[in-house]
Amino acid sequence: MLNPLAIYIHWPFCLSKCPYCDFNSHVREKIDQTRFGAALRAEFAWEAARLGPRRVTSIFFGGGTPSLMDPQIVADIIGDAGRLFALADDCEITLEANPTSVESARLAAFRSAGVNRLSLGVQSLRDDALGFLGRQHDAAQARAALQVARNLFARTSFDMIYARPGQSVADWRVELSEALTLAADHLSLYQLTIEPGTYFETRARRGDFVIPDLDLAAELYDATTEEVARFGLMPYEVSNYAAAGGESRHNLAYWRYDNYVGIGPGAHGRISVGGDLLATRRHRAPESWLEMVERRGHGTTEDTPLSSLVRAREALLMGLRLSEGINIAGFKARTGRTVGESIDADTLRAAVEADYLECTPIVLRALPQGRMRLDALLAALVV
Ligand SMILES: C[S@@+](CC[C@H](N)C(=O)[O-])C[C@H]1O[C@@H](n2cnc3c(N)ncnc32)[C@H](O)[C@@H]1O
Ligand code: SF4
Repeated sequence: MLNPLAIYIHWPFCLSKCPYCDFNSHVREKIDQTRFGAALRAEFAWEAARLGPRRVTSIFFGGGTPSLMDPQIVADIIGDAGRLFALADDCEITLEANPTSVESARLAAFRSAGVNRLSLGVQSLRDDALGFLGRQHDAAQARAALQVARNLFARTSFDMIYARPGQSVADWRVELSEALTLAADHLSLYQLTIEPGTYFETRARRGDFVIPDLDLAAELYDATTEEVARFGLMPYEVSNYAAAGGESRHNLAYWRYDNYVGIGPGAHGRISVGGDLLATRRHRAPESWLEMVERRGHGTTEDTPLSSLVRAREALLMGLRLSEGINIAGFKARTGRTVGESIDADTLRAAVEADYLECTPIVLRALPQGRMRLDALLAALVV
């Protein structure tokens, strides 16, 4: 059996920059899709040459706004993946899309290109909230896009942002249950975070708005879990909910600390090459990345073998996000260290007593109360 590989392709452009977003996304008047498409394929081929034979379990087109890509580029990259590697029979091929009407009209072309799972950035079903979030679509367009997506794709998911300024638990329950009537077997529900360097950071600092405090955020989180459970979805990661079997295989690869390769501006990867686990990163600025790929075949700015200590830390940070937790034997195989060597024993004992963590000879996992406080817990736990 060949080693599994997840493939991430980054499209770094958007129609406009949302004021909360710190992803590597840029607004450009004109984009030379032919050049960017050729560069993505070139960098992909360069990585494939050193990765050797692999079984591809997932391909994810993320962004930015990949639904603005020429569908032919998407088709070409999927074709390349099939030639360069072996595609698993049930290979999950996801594209992120924004629900503007322009993009909805293009969804059929993405399906023809080979995409079999669509993830829509709905964000809210309230027009005032969509205005606040600086989105280019209204709630009616989001509903329409969801309908089109569900008719075209075997698997669909959508993202929402909650814990918005002034949002009560009761309001969110109503909005979420409306969303759940439109959902298939997967949802990503994120609490609004104020990211450094965003316009929202400036506005929050100015006092234009206040986001919910920790207590209200915890109440909103509990209400979320309750509402989704009524529709048969369970949290399988801090912000991700699915019916059994509906989990995103691609995201599971990150959280289980499996190999993934990142192609495109700013993309990062974790790949096993010649006995090392390499951390790879590409140049973030789209034009500089393009120029580097055209000059030397790839836009890599970092290509570093990770020590077992760093691997262990990363695997803990990722794995404790998952409801299934961390498999103790798999952890040693992936990182070269045992779980016991990688965590603070006193913190572990206290966290188990407080019902934040469960630890058995088979698995270490965060319990719901622990997942809610994961950042603080990890800071104390990880040595
Ligand atoms: C790569 S982004 C977006 C994909 C797509 N361009 C879109 O906007 O629909 C993935 C998701 O992260 C979430 N997100 C981004 N920034 C966030 C923030 N500051 N707080 C909470 N959620 C955020 C949004 O729900 C977004 O859909
Ligand atoms: S949230 Fe999506 S559409 Fe908005 S700027 Fe970020 S990547 Fe672009």
